[in-house]
Amino acid sequence: MKVTVLGAAGGIGQPLSLLLKTNLPAGSELNLFDVAPFTPGVAADINDIPTQVKTQGFCGDAAAALKGSDLVVVVAGLARKPGMTRADLLAKNAGIVASLIKAAAENCPNAFIAVVTNPVNVMVPLAARVLKEAGCYNPARLAGVTMLDVLRSRRVMMDRKGLTGADGDVTVIGGHSGVSILPLFSKVAKASFSDAEIAEITDVVRNGGTTVVEAKAGAGSATLSMAMAACTFVMTVLRGMNGEKDAEACAYVENPSAPLPFFAQKLVFGKNGIESFVPYGTLSAFEQEQLNAMLPVLKDEQDKAAAIELN
Ligand code: LMR
Repeated sequence: MKVTVLGAAGGIGQPLSLLLKTNLPAGSELNLFDVAPFTPGVAADINDIPTQVKTQGFCGDAAAALKGSDLVVVVAGLARKPGMTRADLLAKNAGIVASLIKAAAENCPNAFIAVVTNPVNVMVPLAARVLKEAGCYNPARLAGVTMLDVLRSRRVMMDRKGLTGADGDVTVIGGHSGVSILPLFSKVAKASFSDAEIAEITDVVRNGGTTVVEAKAGAGSATLSMAMAACTFVMTVLRGMNGEKDAEACAYVENPSAPLPFFAQKLVFGKNGIESFVPYGTLSAFEQEQLNAMLPVLKDEQDKAAAIELN
């Protein structure tokens, strides 16, 4: 498998590249692309780690890095600063993501594309438009990474309820911004919650990104946990593509079973990408209320993607 990281020299890109170098199966190729001129140096640095993953660095034009890739992770773009929402990144990041997706369409039209760049809720439908225009959109092979919301929910389950592994796993539905992040804590069989606690921990997860942005005080947003989230997601997709069973993860994708065209829920990955959608079942009254409240917000984000002018 050939995996390419776009934005590999940045805050998320570097730890993600390190994690992929140490987690991808032996024999994989890992291409690191960034506009930063020191990107080949990031590859040289990582290459000193003795794993059977051949790593090359590219800067300037993404084409050479992307050629023949099986999976592309897009982490390029700006991060927010205190006081900003993810939506404030749209003007700058839309152009970056659209041009990288176009390059992917030209150089690896069948690759699975995982988008991390914010605002994910807008970037994924935007990427779908770019791929459609290029004549190679396959909804089974495009996803927005929402895994960090799952990691944050699992952390809450560990801290508050002592639950780890499958016991502490949480499905997170909706999208990856503010009220669109909806962890389904009612489905965690081994934990019980008061109504107040559910509301409180839901907010903890929803505000996880902002908490990090504020703690970094102007130096950016979550990079290390996001790199871990992206690596976990990529490894799940690759396991599915390699024919392994139980390759499941939540992600924001075109979703025919959802109330809006793009929606996050748990998915099963197989040889061709997204194989099926895991139904999230009946929601609690609180979750249903939250879902109803999120839909206009999520729809607005998807409408924004449709309104962006493509060059
Ligand atoms: C996060 O959830 O930490 C990321 O989406 C970064 C951000 O701006 O919040």
